Amino acid sequence: MIPSKKMETMLNKQMNAEFYNSHLYQAMAGWFEGQNLPGFAQWMEVQAGEERGHALRIYNHLKERRAAILVEGVPAAPNKYKSALEAFTAAFDHEVHVSKEINKLMEAALAEKDYATAKMLEWFVTEQVEEEAQTDAVVVQLKMIGNSLGSLMYIDRHLGKRKAA
Ligand code: FEO
Repeated sequence: MIPSKKMETMLNKQMNAEFYNSHLYQAMAGWFEGQNLPGFAQWMEVQAGEERGHALRIYNHLKERRAAILVEGVPAAPNKYKSALEAFTAAFDHEVHVSKEINKLMEAALAEKDYATAKMLEWFVTEQVEEEAQTDAVVVQLKMIGNSLGSLMYIDRHLGKRKAA
């Protein structure tokens, strides 16, 4: 069953938002590269790939439902930060925003009895819990270490172990 026009519009908006998320994290990766923090950069690089995967999940849902797929231009993302803490705080705040958008989508899908979309969105609801938790964990660690360069290097090594799923 083809989704309603309203749902189709909302899903396309979220798909494009997820492409932006990929762009945002790639830009953060680039900034971390410039700070000589390759582990942080690697973490962001993997995250950028995951976000593209999120966009493609919605893309494929639209495709399978025979709905319009409208990929748009990606807005510029911030590419300068004052510190690793500022970058990860921005990442956490952004994920909280994404969670709210996913919740709005879920509310709309349930209101329309579009259970196919709601089922697809369940994955995102779960994923957002993880996305918020993992960025928040790094924010907490960065706050704990203050200005300790040695501790920053330790976190960098740890984050650099993240591999694409
Ligand atoms: Fe796809 Fe991190 O939100």
